[in-house]
Formats: sequence, structure tokens, C-alpha cells
Amino acid sequence: MAFKSNIFSLFYKIFGKPIFFLLDPEFVHDKFTDTGRILGKYKITKTIINKLFKYTNQLLKQDLFGINFSNPVGLSAGFDYNGKLNNILPDVGFGFESIGTVTYSPYEGNPKPRLGRIPKQRGLIVNKGFKSDGIDKVLNENYKHNDEDNFVVGISIGATNSKQCSTAPAQIDDICRSVEYLKSHTSYTKFSYIEINISCPNVLGSGSLANPETLESLLSKIRQIGIDKPLFVKFQLEIEWDLAQELIEIMIKYEVDAIIVANLLKHRENISMTNAERLELENKKGNISGKPTWDLSNELISKVYKEFGDKIKIIGVGGVFSAEDAYEKIRRGASLVQLITGMIYNGPQLIGQINEGLVRLMKRDGYKNISEAVGSMHK
Ligand SMILES: Cc1cc2nc3c(=O)[nH]c(=O)nc-3n(C[C@H](O)[C@H](O)[C@H](O)COP(=O)(O)O)c2cc1C
Repeated sequence: MAFKSNIFSLFYKIFGKPIFFLLDPEFVHDKFTDTGRILGKYKITKTIINKLFKYTNQLLKQDLFGINFSNPVGLSAGFDYNGKLNNILPDVGFGFESIGTVTYSPYEGNPKPRLGRIPKQRGLIVNKGFKSDGIDKVLNENYKHNDEDNFVVGISIGATNSKQCSTAPAQIDDICRSVEYLKSHTSYTKFSYIEINISCPNVLGSGSLANPETLESLLSKIRQIGIDKPLFVKFQLEIEWDLAQELIEIMIKYEVDAIIVANLLKHRENISMTNAERLELENKKGNISGKPTWDLSNELISKVYKEFGDKIKIIGVGGVFSAEDAYEKIRRGASLVQLITGMIYNGPQLIGQINEGLVRLMKRDGYKNISEAVGSMHK
């Protein structure tokens, strides 16, 4: 496995990335999605991808919230936003994915360009603003579940990005409408969890749901709908700890199963870059993913784990580019990790490399299952 993935890694570094990085990032993303969709359709292409990329090991398996995760590495919301890749991702080696963020009404996204790169800082600039086909099309046309794969797929739901939905009450109604629609749909049983996105920084009315009263109202309404699946909440990266504590208390009250730490970085002041780079970045609208999120995400994971680790599970996201990165998030308290940007910078073989590396690191530290490493930094 290591030999094959190192060769692919080199290939991606020498040929793939330099070409992709010359092209418009959204164009590359769309082509990747179209290609992944086609590769996932056929047994033969699935088998080839599987043999090339997938790494499996018993030590990585976990049962969490009644879901069987074959490994702890997931695709974060925002890459497969219209639910087209679930048939190829298990063969790439992912343990799970969050499709979406899906909104009730379709939205064509913020004006272009809405995706950029900051290669020196190993990040992306994201200003898509919940581009979505809308829940109706995602469930009826795009999403095709493959029972054979038994892949863990969750759906991230957010409020439609529109003027009408820019206030908290309208956002709550819009999210609940999506949850109700999903619950009444035949594909409901195919989703393993529901993820509520309260933290997208590039939509109208952003931040309205990260408020104790509105979060309480949102979660109580979702509970009234009566979903019988694990419920996750995607959290903001930049938040005062006092407010974060209040919000997490509310999540625990409404039996939210996991908090996803965290979404994109809004404030750019602390990103290390030259004046020229900063000047160039000033003209680009959006929020930052990748390595610039690393420190804040890690600090927040540790804080949440130390104070609430016995009451809510943590999914760690932000700047995972290697097995060591994933392991650090797990040791800080994350039971699972997710990523996007690391895969774009390092190539799709990264997922197998992370899983293989995790096993190496666990053996070094004497753990017999990945769950034993969770929070070990604080013990
Ligand atoms: C292109 C792109 C689109 C994203 N869209 C969403 C989204 O729709 N919903 C969401 O919850 N997070 C979204 N995110 C945030 C990611 O899920 C993740 O929290 C963040 O990028 C940090 O992880 P990373 O450093 O591994 O990319 C997006 C990120 C990227 C790069």
C-alpha cells in the first residue's frame, strides 16, 4: 500500500497539482466531481480505484452513535455538495462523508469567482455561499445509494442563502422544512446522520443561529420533527469561549450527538503572509480553509473535549494534511476527523496514507483501537 500511494503521491505532486493549480479552482472541482461520479458507476472502475487507494485495518473501526465506521477519516461538507460522489468515496478509502450543505431551495451560489487558492499558506478561499441544487433535486435526482458499499453518508443541512432567509426565524423554518422533507422521503433510511450547519460564514444572515435563543429554538423544533438518526452540529471556528460553552450546553440539552469543530476561518489578520500576498488577498472575497484553520480548530477541539468530552462526541476538521495531523486532532479529543483541502493539495491517495499512518502511530503508542487514542493528550 505505502509503495503504491507514494508513487501516486509523487505523480500528483509532479504532474497533477501543477496542472490543476493553473486552472480555475471551481472548474477543477466540477471536473473532479463529474469524474468521480462516473468512476463510481461501474464495478470495474470502483475495483481499480479500490485497489489503488484503499487501506483497511481492524484497528481503525469504531462503533459510534450506533454507526459502524470502518475508519475515522471523512469527507467534510462542501466538496460533494450535491450528493454525487458517495459511490466512489468508499473506494478512495474514506470512512464516511457529509454531503451538502444542502438547502431547501436551490441557489446558484455567490457571484464568481467564489473559490481561490493561497498555495503558500496551503489554504483555499471559499465564497460559494451554499451553492446547492436544493433538497428536492439532491434527493430525487442526484443521490443514488449503493447498498453493497454500506458506506456511511450523512447530509449537511443549512438555511437557503436568500434575502427571505436572512433572519434567524426564517433560517430556522427553512432548515426545519428540509429536515421534514428528508424525513418523509424514501431515501431517509439511507442516510446515517444529519448534520446541521449553523456556522457558514459566507451566507446572508451568517451567525444568526450561533446565538443561545435561536439555537435552542432550532434544536427544539428539529426534535419536535422527531428524527431517529444521530444529529450533529457544525460549529464556528472563531467564537468566544463563553458563548461556545452556552451553545454546547444547549446542544447537550437537545441530545446532539456530535459537534463538528469547525467551519471556515473568517478573519485573515493572523494568517502569516507577506505584505504583497496580503494585498493580493484583499481583493478576494471569502473565508479560508486548510492550514490557516489548524491552530484555532485544534485549540477548540481540546477545550470542548476537556469540558464536555463525556457528554458529546467531537469531529475534528481543519487543516488535516497527513496522518500526523489527523492523529493530533484525535489525541486532542476528536473521535472522527474530516477534511477537504488536504486532499486538494496532496491528492486522493492521502486518505489511504492517513489511515495507514494512523495505524503506524497507534502501534507506536501501544493502542489496540483508534478509540483508545481519543483525548489521550489530556490524560
Ligand atoms: C470549497 C469548500 C466548500 C465548503 N463548503 C462547506 C459547506 O457547504 N458546508 C460546510 O459545513 N462546510 C463547508 N466547507 C468547510 C469545510 O467543510 C471544512 O470545515 C473546512 O474547509 C476546514 O477543513 P479543511 O481544512 O480540511 O478544508 C467548505 C470548504 C471548502 C474548501
